[in-house]
Amino acid sequence: MVMGKKGREQEFAFSIGSVPVQGRTMLAPLAGYSDVPFRSICREQGSAVSYTPCITDIAVTYGGQRTERLADWLDAERPVAVQLLGADEGTLLSALDRLLPLGPDLIDLNMGCPARRVNSGGRGAALLCEPQKAGRLARAVVEHAPVPVTAKIRLGWDDSTRNYLQVAHILEDAGIAALAVHGRTREQQYGGQADWDAIAEVKQALSIPVIGNGDVRTPADVLRMRNHTGCDGVMIGRAAIGNPWIFAGRLIQDVSYEERLATVRRHLLWMAEYYGEQLGVVLFRKHVVRYLHGIHNATAMRPHVLAAATVEDVLSVLEGELATAGVTQPELEEEDDER
Ligand SMILES: Cc1cc2nc3c(=O)[nH]c(=O)nc-3n(C[C@H](O)[C@H](O)[C@H](O)COP(=O)(O)O)c2cc1C
Repeated sequence: MVMGKKGREQEFAFSIGSVPVQGRTMLAPLAGYSDVPFRSICREQGSAVSYTPCITDIAVTYGGQRTERLADWLDAERPVAVQLLGADEGTLLSALDRLLPLGPDLIDLNMGCPARRVNSGGRGAALLCEPQKAGRLARAVVEHAPVPVTAKIRLGWDDSTRNYLQVAHILEDAGIAALAVHGRTREQQYGGQADWDAIAEVKQALSIPVIGNGDVRTPADVLRMRNHTGCDGVMIGRAAIGNPWIFAGRLIQDVSYEERLATVRRHLLWMAEYYGEQLGVVLFRKHVVRYLHGIHNATAMRPHVLAAATVEDVLSVLEGELATAGVTQPELEEEDDER
């Protein structure tokens, strides 16, 4: 327990090195989604850490405005983890020299990205094929950074090389302060089922906090993953898009259309302010289709909302006559699966 500003006791769930984390669930890094506006919306609902989307070390050194946006955050989002993709010690450390003055709370090393163009440079999940190198890089970053360093891994490259325990031990020995484990191999990409047994094995094997990730779609899944794996934190990716209420432990079916609309409006206005109206509205399209999920008339509304070019146009579709029907019946929850 720590004392809050007003002497109120605030509970923190666990610590990553010296950084207290006030909650058990957090938005996963999601390139193309987890920007300042979306992370902030999720934080308001209870997401406990803000991860930037992955940023390539080279881009930090040579990138322009787009990269600066990737490494942007608000003070209200703290603790903030900047996620780096790198495969060369010198390049990683010079990227750090540019990022550290910005004052992130954590540096997270991406060792799980399955994209071919990333892996061909030896970055992301390619590092799982070179565990000793992954360990050397992690140690170098730990020694260079004055803040705790974390890593995010997958289970291995493919089914025949599931070396997550070896990688986890090496990274812990290198001094990382927490490990996020996405329970899939690189070969699986985002298909098949995440292996929560493997996450449980990692949790058993390490003394640092372990954050479980993969296939958490409902508040009940959060509990199931924690019970099944013993993990300290639960990282939620795809299921949070269009559903930040998952961080408040609420079922999306229980969120009224009016409440969804209020959040959509705020998210959209934030995007327009952050990126400028034209780009903000375009970037918001992939969010709005997910916010519409489960709404009566979503199919009829979608083409109109996707064609809208201004904030006013988007809102007039969402507030117009097509939207009067409200939220659909809750879908029946699947029975508890004994994972
Ligand atoms: C669109 C998209 C972008 C992603 N970007 C990143 C990223 O930048 N860094 C990262 O470590 N993982 C990234 N991931 C992987 C997620 O963080 C997460 O590990 C994965 O989606 C599994 O979790 P989920 O089943 O809750 O979605 C991305 C996934 C998706 C779908």
